[in-house]
This record gives sequence, C-alpha cells and structure tokens, in this order.
Amino acid sequence: MHPSATAHPPTPAPTPALVMMKLIKKLVLTIVCCLLLSAGTKPNEPTLKEAFAGKFLIGAAITISQVLGVDASAAEIVKKQFNAIVPENCMKSIYLQPKEGVFHFDEADKFVAFGEINNLWITGHCLIWHSQTPAWFFRDKNGNDVSREVLIERMRNHIKTVVSRYKGRIKGWDVVNEAITDDGSWRQSKFYKIIGEDFIPLAFQFAHEADPDAELYYNDYSTAIAAKCKSIVNLVKAIRGKNLRIDAVGMQGHLSMDFPAIADFERSLLAFSASGVKVMITELDLTVLPLPQHFAGADVSAKFDFKNKLNPYSNGLPKDIELKQQKRYVAFFKLFLKHQDKISRVTLWGVTDNNSWRNNWPISGRTDYALLFDRNFQPKPIVNKIIQLTKQSSASPPTMHGAQR
Ligand code: XIL
Repeated sequence: MHPSATAHPPTPAPTPALVMMKLIKKLVLTIVCCLLLSAGTKPNEPTLKEAFAGKFLIGAAITISQVLGVDASAAEIVKKQFNAIVPENCMKSIYLQPKEGVFHFDEADKFVAFGEINNLWITGHCLIWHSQTPAWFFRDKNGNDVSREVLIERMRNHIKTVVSRYKGRIKGWDVVNEAITDDGSWRQSKFYKIIGEDFIPLAFQFAHEADPDAELYYNDYSTAIAAKCKSIVNLVKAIRGKNLRIDAVGMQGHLSMDFPAIADFERSLLAFSASGVKVMITELDLTVLPLPQHFAGADVSAKFDFKNKLNPYSNGLPKDIELKQQKRYVAFFKLFLKHQDKISRVTLWGVTDNNSWRNNWPISGRTDYALLFDRNFQPKPIVNKIIQLTKQSSASPPTMHGAQR
C-alpha cells in the first residue's frame, strides 16, 4: 500500500459557503483576465481623428448608402474615426445635372446634411472633370461639339448653381480634376479641345464668384511623376498669376505596392508646397492586387479582363502581404507626418474594403484590401500602427490649417 494512502484524513465534502467562495474567486479572476486582455487591444487608444488633431484633417470618401444609413456600420466608422468627408460620386456632374438645366440635388443635399450633423469638414468633388460628365454638356442639338462660348456658359452655369447652393457649407471644392496627363501635357478632354487651357482658370474664377470663402483645389493622380508635377506647378503659378484663388493641390493617393516611389511622392509634395499652396492627400488607398505590366495611376477609363490569377486573395489576405502593405502604409503616413505643416488634409478613398472602388477597378469583380477598415467593419492592425506614429511625430508649430480650421 502506498504510504500516503493512510497518511491524510479523507477530504471533507465542500460546504455551500466554500463552493460560493470558489465561484467568486473564479469570477474575479475571469474579470481581471478580461480587463488585461482588453488592455492588449487598447480600448483607450485615440481614434484616427483624435490622433491627427492639430496636424491635418483625416477624412474619407463616402457613398450615398452611408449617408442614408443603409450602410450603417460604415457610417458609424466615419462618425467615430474621421473629421472630413468627400462624396465618392453623388456630386459629379453626371448625377447633379444629367440633362441641361435639370439639377438633381437630393442626394448631394443629404450628403451635406450628414456632414453638418456630424460636424465634418465637407469637400465637394468635383466641378469640372473629363469623366462622369454628361454627354450633353459638350453637344449641340445636332450632336456636334458646342462652341467655346457655349461650353464656357455651361461651365459657368453648372459651377454657379452647384457652388452657390452650398455656399458657406461646403468648405472646399475640387474645382478641376485630372486636366494633365502623366507626360505633363494637357489632357485632350472636350473641355480642353473646345475651350483651350483657359477652361481651368475660368472654372476657378466661376467657383470663387459663387462662394468667395470656399477653398479651391486642383486635384490629380500620379502627381509623383516629375513631368506631371512640373506642369501642375506651372498651372498653380498661372492661376495665382491671374490673381485667382487656389488653396491647395490634391495629390490623389491611389497607391500600389510599387508605385509611386516614396521619394518621388515627397519631391512632388515639396514642389507643390513651394508653389505657394497647401497639399492635400486625397483619394488614398493602397491596392495589394497585381496590376497589368506598366500600369499605374488612376485613369478611370482603364479596364482589363478579369482572370483568376489576377484575383489571388479572394479567400483572405496572406500574412506576408498584409505586413508588406502595412509597411508601405506606415512609410506614407510617416511622410505625411513629416510634412504635416504643408498638408491640410489626408482623405481615404472609401471606408471599408467592402466598398472600395479598387475591387472593381481597373478589373471588375476582384477582392482587394486597399483601405484601413476590413470587411467586418473592424479597424485593421494598420490603424493602430498609424495612431502610434502620430505619438512619435514631433509637434508641428501652430498653423491655421488642419483640424483647427
Ligand atoms: C471613382 C469612384 O470611386 C467610382 O465609384 C466611380 O465608378 C468612378 O470614379 N479619381 C477621382 C474619383 O477623382 O472621382 C474616382 O472615383 C477615382 C479616381
């Protein structure tokens, strides 16, 4: 027989009080564990807008389903995390004035009201663009191109009607979008072909007449390309040379994993700033998907056929790609923070990966992971990484821009 079998008296049956004590002990332990665990997920971390307060505005492009509360979870993210909005589509001329003189303001009105109720800086996008402009804009009743005078008049009427409707409420306008091509030449749009390069200063003039207090911007993609940057700088100088208002250049941030090089992006950012305007990083997203060779930028008319091999992450993003993307996002945000005194706003082009246009452009029907919030409306780990960066960045000297506006 084992000695211990007789060495101890049998354990007494637990009393109800003892059971109760044990249960309480267990409960307390569970609560402490939960608290420790949740501390690991940092519930007290600031939101994005809190983290960037005093540096620059942090915004998102939003859809009408978010405005209407159909995509309610994404709308909640906007209210909680961002302090600026821009309409992804509803203020483009094809929606605002689909027929000459027939304006549809219903959705745009609701978008603006959403911004006001939630105390968000509202940017209008966009007044003059070669894309998503209705065909009638450029045609006479016989289907021929209108004259220069008629097109200028149509531009004036569109800009005046839209900008004055939201006078004092929309704080800044993308007045002209994408007028310069990647090689630095003028885009051969209908506006350019019919009016000539004057269409740009004219648009700025009309917008300023309609709301003298509104900020006015020129917005374009692939601005890191040296030739394109140079032409935009010349354009800014030309607009300023005519004593017209231009407040900022919007550098669309449609990034991919290897374009543009950060150094090129920084060089352009500095060049725009040196031309006497603020810089805004507009339309920020970062695709992880393969792109056709030599394709970069954000030409909305680009379209390629769907192939399974071009849609490699439909069942989830592999960890190594996620980390690579995080590294690139971090590098860009470090750059933005480094130049926070020159930047007035950074805006993501969408809220969650669900509704990013990158899923359907330049190839339709893919699964991309380009934004900061995932398909379950949760912040991705990159959000916390970005927030940590803001704590390391040295405080900028007080400026009249960013969240202080
Ligand atoms: C895109 C929208 O995200 C899409 O929903 C729409 O189908 C096409 O336009 N540059 C711009 C934006 O200035 O207006 C574009 O938005 C993306 C590229």
